Amino acid sequence: MAHSIKSLIESWDGIGVVMRFDQETGTWIFIALHSDQLGMPSGGTRMKVYPSPSAGLRDAMRLARGMTQKWAAVGLNYGGGKAVLSVPRVLTSKQREGLLRRYGRLIESLKGSFATGPDLGTSAQDMSIVAQETAFVHGVDRDTGVSIDPGPYTAKGVFEGIKATMRHVFGSESVAGRVVHIQGVGGVGDPLARLLKQAGAQIILSDLDSKRAERLSEELGGSDTFEPHTAYEAACDVYAPCAVGGTLNSETIRELKCRIVVGSANNQLEGPEHGRELHERGILYAPDYIVNAGGAIALGLMTQGVRDAATIDSRIAHIGVSLAEILKVAKEKGESPDEAATRVVRTRLNPNGHSA
Ligand code: PHE
Repeated sequence: MAHSIKSLIESWDGIGVVMRFDQETGTWIFIALHSDQLGMPSGGTRMKVYPSPSAGLRDAMRLARGMTQKWAAVGLNYGGGKAVLSVPRVLTSKQREGLLRRYGRLIESLKGSFATGPDLGTSAQDMSIVAQETAFVHGVDRDTGVSIDPGPYTAKGVFEGIKATMRHVFGSESVAGRVVHIQGVGGVGDPLARLLKQAGAQIILSDLDSKRAERLSEELGGSDTFEPHTAYEAACDVYAPCAVGGTLNSETIRELKCRIVVGSANNQLEGPEHGRELHERGILYAPDYIVNAGGAIALGLMTQGVRDAATIDSRIAHIGVSLAEILKVAKEKGESPDEAATRVVRTRLNPNGHSA
């Protein structure tokens, strides 16, 4: 559906959007600030070639709202924000560095209204460049300038989420012999595949870059790989979307041959009604912002000065406990897990029950 920048801004319920056109590279920069109710709006920076600048803005807005939910769900004091660098094409490394530096200076000029970190299309190394221009980057060691990669932390949280769904559906958290389809084997999908393989799961991989899926499959001793256009038909116990959002819509939900959906992608449901549709089809959906919070937990805690790996790990492991609780409440009330999670977040954001 095509949206204009005007109509997107008119319907935005967030704080506002900072927009800038980077003339040197032809990139639209959108920083969507959704909420500062719990703290400084914080979220990753996505770099991608979108069909139009407004598609990039729409993504930034949806992702920023997701960050508000994610921070509220994990109980860390940050607000929802997200940035999109809508590039016209893949940039050369010199163009990329220039863009990241100018983007860093833009963030610095906001003086703490937004802080960022890596997301789809940007890396920890990219954030080290941004951090040379601004103090508002999460997960950067100020002494060394080294930036951490949140991907493995997110993967760990998703793994905990998968175990919790196993317990809920099959009565045991073991993934041994279970078939998991990982869609997208990038920063999170790759470490998730390794964790699952180690725990004895059977893996199916798909990626828009099918070579990448084949390479990982070979390395892991030969898992099945699927071409992206047939991936939804892969029969599995768990479908784990770990790349772009919006993969769960009326069409794909009809095609899915799985029992459970739990993955790291942000905004997996195209619309809220699709949480219901999954529920009605008898597919258990683990709300994305509950299970994919591992990276945010690690980055947020590091900004607060926590360096101790055991503390970070135990906070991430808690994702399994939170998800189990949501699944239990949803079952008791006959709601979809998405509806139950939305209520938890609404209560955190609005503890006195006043409408926001
Ligand atoms: N982009 C990742 C996420 O959505 C990691 C991240 C979290 C980056 C928080 C910045 C801030 O969870």
